[in-house]
Amino acid sequence: MESLDKTLVSSWCNVRSNVPHSYIQPPENRPVGNYVTSTQKAIPVIDLGSHDRDDITKQILKASEEYGFFQVINHGVSKDLMDETLNIIKEFHALSPKEKVEECSKDPNKSCKLYASHDKIYNIDVNFWKDTILHPCPPSGKYMEYWPEKPAKYREVVGKYTRELNKLAHKILKLICEGLGLDPEYFQGSLSGAPVMLGHHYPPCPDPSLTLGVGKHKDPTIITLLLQEEGIQGLQVLKDNEWIGVVPIPNAFVVNIGLLLQIVTNGRVVGAEHRAVTNSSISRRSVAYFIYPSIESVIGPAQALINGSTSKTYKTMPYDEFLKQYYKKGPDGPKFEQELL
Ligand code: OGA
Ligand code: NI
Repeated sequence: MESLDKTLVSSWCNVRSNVPHSYIQPPENRPVGNYVTSTQKAIPVIDLGSHDRDDITKQILKASEEYGFFQVINHGVSKDLMDETLNIIKEFHALSPKEKVEECSKDPNKSCKLYASHDKIYNIDVNFWKDTILHPCPPSGKYMEYWPEKPAKYREVVGKYTRELNKLAHKILKLICEGLGLDPEYFQGSLSGAPVMLGHHYPPCPDPSLTLGVGKHKDPTIITLLLQEEGIQGLQVLKDNEWIGVVPIPNAFVVNIGLLLQIVTNGRVVGAEHRAVTNSSISRRSVAYFIYPSIESVIGPAQALINGSTSKTYKTMPYDEFLKQYYKKGPDGPKFEQELL
């Protein structure tokens, strides 16, 4: 097997003028020609700085029911910290392949990982046009000793950023709970116990019509907060069989309802399928903050949302069992979701 530093997309893509065979998507998954890509529609934008809490709750719930996606502005995380974080991730991916591998090899248990494409976690053969650094980032600071020490400020900036994002994620989850009539602390414990950060790097691609940065999926999370670089598009959300581009708004976070929140709320809010497309001129970065449950958690609909429910009731199962199934089933979301009922 080739060594990791050579498999990183960024380590070979600028010396090739074509797309390697293993990165060519099957025709039905290619980004053009199969779905209309709408330029008219946009996912909702919600102002968290408003003083009308009831109104914010209503907007979040509506967006979570209809789209499973929204952007938030005036969320309380400083612009400087957002910029610094994107810059650190950009600088990290600009290190030499060998340095990157070294900086992500500090934990023998591999909590901090660098990988190309999808790390072979999905049961699919086709590769995606991206490199990713991933590591746990609980507010306690556990695992931080395994994070990169290059760029020099990585731990300081990412530590501060992920603590802020934890607060923001809980603020949004609380509002969702209030809107649904759930205990506002419902997600405080093990259901949000294992947050992870992913720093994605999508290099320019010689033929974006053949490739994807990441294929269609729902996140296996409770909730995801995504920071995108300004002025560079790539993320798309599937809504009523149309791909809607999620245009980066200055200082906003994209909030994405995860498949686990869909289960816990018994389908009251929905996770939406999304993907990232590539472009031929400029590389793109995004930073995803995933709220994952602790591995020993049990996942199932909240009792308060089963009682009186006339519609779907998802199975209750150990979270590690859910994960095994999710990765085994690969990207066929709708079929997998049927099996969760
Ligand atoms: C993800 C994801 C999209 C993006 O990390 O799950 O969907 O734009 N990322 O990077
Ligand atoms: Ni995703």
